[in-house]
Amino acid sequence: MPDPAAHADDTISARISPSCPAETQRILTAAWAHDVAAVKKLLDAPGRASVQDPTTGETPLHAAIRACGAPAEDDDPADLEAARQTVHELLLWGAIWNDVDDRNETPGCVAQRLGRVELYNLCVEAGVRAEMLFGVLEGYEELGSVGEDGEDGEDLEVVDVEAGAGAGAGADADMVVVSEEDGDEAPELVDVEGSGQNGAVQEDEAEAEAEQDQEQQLDGPRFQPPKDDTNADVNSEAYLRSKLTYSDGKLVDEDGNGVMMAWETDIMRQSVDALLPDKQPGKRILNIGFGMGIIDTMFAETKPACHHIIEAHPGVLEHIASPSSKFGSAWEESGPAPGAFKVYNGKWQDVCQELLQQGHTYDAIYFDTFGEDYSQLRMFFTEFIPGLLDGQGRFSFFNGLGADRRICYDVYTKVAELHLADAGLDVDWKVIDVDMSHLAEAGKGEWEGVKRRYWTLDSKRSAPLGFRLAADNLVEYRLPICTFLG
Ligand SMILES: C[S@@+](CC[C@H](N)C(=O)[O-])C[C@H]1O[C@@H](n2cnc3c(N)ncnc32)[C@H](O)[C@@H]1O
Repeated sequence: MPDPAAHADDTISARISPSCPAETQRILTAAWAHDVAAVKKLLDAPGRASVQDPTTGETPLHAAIRACGAPAEDDDPADLEAARQTVHELLLWGAIWNDVDDRNETPGCVAQRLGRVELYNLCVEAGVRAEMLFGVLEGYEELGSVGEDGEDGEDLEVVDVEAGAGAGAGADADMVVVSEEDGDEAPELVDVEGSGQNGAVQEDEAEAEAEQDQEQQLDGPRFQPPKDDTNADVNSEAYLRSKLTYSDGKLVDEDGNGVMMAWETDIMRQSVDALLPDKQPGKRILNIGFGMGIIDTMFAETKPACHHIIEAHPGVLEHIASPSSKFGSAWEESGPAPGAFKVYNGKWQDVCQELLQQGHTYDAIYFDTFGEDYSQLRMFFTEFIPGLLDGQGRFSFFNGLGADRRICYDVYTKVAELHLADAGLDVDWKVIDVDMSHLAEAGKGEWEGVKRRYWTLDSKRSAPLGFRLAADNLVEYRLPICTFLG
């Protein structure tokens, strides 16, 4: 597919259309000029920071970043500082970090393309803050509604989200969670910017306004990579009911989504090497998600003492039980002790409870499911890893989080790191290049019959920002190796 951003016309006349409403035009123009005072003045109502030109999809964030152009010798440091302040101000006022324009670029994508590292980093930090806040909101829903077991007027405490979520979440500590002291009540998110104090809410009025702003910010798309029309959401329940097809080198669901493909073999190999560096026999291994059995075949070769596999899809389970499978009943019976080699039939969410109750612990755990969103992976980190992983053990997962575009990959890397730290885990990202030179373009070769070329990050695109450079057709993959902190 041609890249609509290639050879992009980044001039103001191309980006702010003549038919753009006057009010939107004023904000876009002020942002483009890096006129911080004018931008502040114009952001006087909720939603203003994320207005879009109806034709080009330009937002004030896009405009402020795009106006910088690519780095040049005659760059004016004062203008670059004004650009930074403009972006900062827009983000404070609820600008949405991952809105896409008509070229399918987020503001961060524009910064990356132009090589504006500092502005790119501001977008990443904003994305991390937004996702951490969404994570808190999910907690809100699970905790039940106000009034169920809490009354108005109880003491409130103010907690810094970033401190609560772990160190290094990002830039400003202007977002706070207000929760009741006993911790039972649903936390509430407010933006204290403008309250006159860092980290404290002063007046009801300011709080109400701030909540309105915050709502605006949280109205933005949840933390999913912006989609193209061939990338329909995959829902876990629908996936588990769908008919699967195994064919040469791939496993595809009935909607044509690639569940697993042979090109990922190298990632599986490197994951096994990272999880079991000394390849000593006798390890206890848990793998979640069988797929094509690529990683399980590699695990089996290490001669483990215990090898448990969890798989939920009836089609995959049928494939495992077929006479040609290496993981059928004969394999189960070949284990060193009854139950040592076992395929657990069911969703990991249920089976892991059972494993915890039975007191199983593992030296190596790998997690690679399909059709589930990040909240499930996070739940696995926090609710199951602490009980299932041996104190000296290693955990890894397939890291396709946000692999549609560089900025999403960077945001998810940081978010996962923070949530892993919450679970008491340290993560070491091993950056590897996956050679895709033998793979064809979308819809052809290996991708034939696969709806979307679901991994689109190539190292070439990341080059302008000084990320690790690699030759064409090498895909950058960040392989997580998690161990307990301390
Ligand atoms: C990407 S594949 C795993 C590929 C595997 N790593 C390999 O090397 O072939 C994902 C697998 O997770 C399974 N799966 C999806 N949701 C699951 C769940 N909730 N519990 C258990 N298995 C699940 C899918 O049916 C599929 O077999």
